[in-house]
Amino acid sequence: MDYRKVHFLLSAHAIRQLPAPDYPDVAFAGRSNVGKSSLINRLVDRTSLVKTSSKPGKTQSLNYFLVDDALYLVDLPGYGFAQVSQETRKSWQGLLTEYVETRSTLACVVVIIDLRHELKALDRELIDWLRYLKKPFLPVYTKADKLSRNNQLKNAAILDAGLTLTADERIVFSARTDHGLDSLRSRIAAFANSMVIAPEKEEDNLTGPI
Ligand code: GTP
Ligand code: MG
Repeated sequence: MDYRKVHFLLSAHAIRQLPAPDYPDVAFAGRSNVGKSSLINRLVDRTSLVKTSSKPGKTQSLNYFLVDDALYLVDLPGYGFAQVSQETRKSWQGLLTEYVETRSTLACVVVIIDLRHELKALDRELIDWLRYLKKPFLPVYTKADKLSRNNQLKNAAILDAGLTLTADERIVFSARTDHGLDSLRSRIAAFANSMVIAPEKEEDNLTGPI
């Protein structure tokens, strides 16, 4: 899979606006400002394909990117951002919930968590919910560059324990140094390849009564 062959497809504000499920979706979820858009930019080796911001709450819709005519990358709105109205938060949450529960071609949710901070309830809840729904997910601990090697190991072990994960089930990452980027690329490609997309049943149109 050539991640560099990528283009922006569309921004969906409602489920009916999603593109046809012709390719697997790999979606990127995480708290507001955790670094979702930055991670996607590194994945596709672009500096600003996806808008990043120091202001939380930048991404407010499901932003679709098509990679190599083989895979959709989906930048999801961040959660846990206090400074938006209750109403806006509810509508994002509704959209996210419906998306994850109903998108049949969702191959993996990459759950991005800040390696510097202690585990937040919302991150734990997201992972518990994905487990409950039996949706494949890949936890990524990001902003590793902000910590010493020792503290990276220490914090990663604490997050692993809090999320009941083993070290080989997650990736430690940095969008600044590209730490973990190669394994992220290969894990995502593996998730995408494991999903078989059923072809559209064109014969349906031909088999009706004449
Ligand atoms: P929303 O769309 O608002 O939810 O944010 P987001 O999760 O997409 O985060 P974004 O990629 O916009 O990054 C937020 C801030 O964190 C920006 O200032 C980035 O430069 C910074 N950032 C993201 N990833 C890293 C990283 O790995 N290391 C460091 N040092 N900074 C990072
Ligand atoms: Mg973003």
